Amino acid sequence: MSTTEQRVAVVTGGARGIGAATAVRLAAEGRAVAVIDLDEAACKDTVEKITAAGGRAIAVGADVSDEAQVEAAVARVVAELGAPTILVNNAGVLRDNLLFKMSASDWDTVLNVHLRGSFLMTKAVQKHMVDAGFGRVVNLSSSSALGNRGQANYSAAKAGLQGFTKTLAIELGKFGITANAVAPGFIATDMTAATAARVGMGFEDFKAAAATQIPVARVGEPEDIANAIAFFTGEAAGFVSGQVLYVAGGPLD
Ligand SMILES: NC(=O)c1ccc[n+]([C@@H]2O[C@H](COP(=O)([O-])OP(=O)(O)OC[C@H]3O[C@@H](n4cnc5c(N)ncnc54)[C@H](O)[C@@H]3O)[C@@H](O)[C@H]2O)c1
Repeated sequence: MSTTEQRVAVVTGGARGIGAATAVRLAAEGRAVAVIDLDEAACKDTVEKITAAGGRAIAVGADVSDEAQVEAAVARVVAELGAPTILVNNAGVLRDNLLFKMSASDWDTVLNVHLRGSFLMTKAVQKHMVDAGFGRVVNLSSSSALGNRGQANYSAAKAGLQGFTKTLAIELGKFGITANAVAPGFIATDMTAATAARVGMGFEDFKAAAATQIPVARVGEPEDIANAIAFFTGEAAGFVSGQVLYVAGGPLD
């Protein structure tokens, strides 16, 4: 590939929140972007933002936990934008509950979207990366990977993504492919707004309370995460692989 050719990025869960900010950011870096989410119509705002700024993007409806839908989605990306060589596994859901109240179906839903979804998407896209001799995979982990009350399913999935990331880095490195994980702390999105509603707090109060626990004294914005993802997907980041970067306004480990 010549350096003037445009690389194609796939961002899952790109209809809103961190995924939308990432899609817009990668487009601003000159990438053509496939915005994948459950509902194709819901991706319209993200795609319009990109095209209005002069970029190239398409909306693709797919459930990342469904193998046939993932394969069809990636085939559409190849046909309409070109072979993808950047993948951001961002789609996610919460089904929080204390362990004794957590249903097996809430466990399965969370593991399926985050872990199975990232596995299926990466498997479908990696062959294009191998062909190109270049690839960038970024998986969305979380500070919850370190353990968080009420999130047995989510913390297991997000810790699992860290192991998945390191294994991808080991297996795929020789093909010019890097894999890294970005692990956000508290980011103001619909996901955290839903958590505020679940615990009976207004979102502004919830954010203010969270900010008191964060060294930089504010909660994160989707763009804070998009910036870190842009670094890992960059041409210059080829020697950075298998890493987990906590982007949480302070140190975590
Ligand atoms: N917001 C935070 O504080 C925070 C913190 C740590 C990690 N994260 C992670 O960052 C990612 C994005 O979070 P967000 O806050 O933007 O969430 P969000 O709920 O605002 O957006 C998630 C998007 O994923 C999509 N999605 C859900 N299931 C899907 C599926 N099966 N197939 C395709 N798309 C699907 C949703 O429709 C939605 O558009 C998630 O993986 C989340 O776990 C978020």
